[in-house]
Amino acid sequence: MKKIAVLTGAGISAESGISTFRDSDGLWEQHNVMDVASIEGWYKNPKLVLDFYNERRKQLETVEPNAAHKILHELENHFNVCVITQNVDNLHERAGSTNIIHLHGELTKVRSIADEDTVYDIGYKAINIGDTDKSGVQLRPHIVWFGEAVPMLNAAADKVAQADIIAIIGTSLNVYPAAGLVNYKKNGIPVFLINPNDVNPFHIQNLTLIQEKATTGVEKMRNILIEKYL
Ligand code: OAD
Repeated sequence: MKKIAVLTGAGISAESGISTFRDSDGLWEQHNVMDVASIEGWYKNPKLVLDFYNERRKQLETVEPNAAHKILHELENHFNVCVITQNVDNLHERAGSTNIIHLHGELTKVRSIADEDTVYDIGYKAINIGDTDKSGVQLRPHIVWFGEAVPMLNAAADKVAQADIIAIIGTSLNVYPAAGLVNYKKNGIPVFLINPNDVNPFHIQNLTLIQEKATTGVEKMRNILIEKYL
């Protein structure tokens, strides 16, 4: 089976009802990114940060995977698919995808501020100041904030380097190092870029630009993949 590395961002979950970050109605229009999604913000006002992610987690419980997430799962019947997502939602998992790398962490998981390796599943529950692990250390969201390292980066870069085909779906390609992952790909392999708006495609060769929303765009990509690349 050919290997596909799929890089996804907030846009793939937009049609499920989750706001993106940088569109005109996006989360960073309503919240100061450095207050709620940076390590400095956490030290300054942890309650504000916990409340922000509590709200995201609560909303996640109310939404469902859309056709784009589901088609990526179905593609596993024909290809070896690895989804590398910047999203902290669990919609790829809930659509059935089995090989997922979360670059920026996961909303439904927490860890203590003292131990980044012991991660707990909390589902859709809130965490508050005073909620601790067994040793009494405060819990924090299992999210990679601005100013923090991206532990899954090397694993993701390996998947991109091994891929025969790349798909980039619903990301503004604004945030590094995630946006630079495509540079690890083999030369000349097919790359699909699905986004209804203009994004910088880095002058990629062999690019198929599908300027559509994720649901219809991923369906078109699936048809091309099955017709041309099986
Ligand atoms: P952005 O909000 O930066 O970009 C979302 C992209 O989705 C834009 O390019 C939109 O054009 C596109 N889009 C909007 N609706 C779409 C739809 N229905 N179908 C397909 N595409 C659509 O989100 P990301 O690129 O994911 O990190 O942002 C990257 C990171 O920045 C996030 O992981 C988050 C944020 O700060 C952290 O919080 C650490």
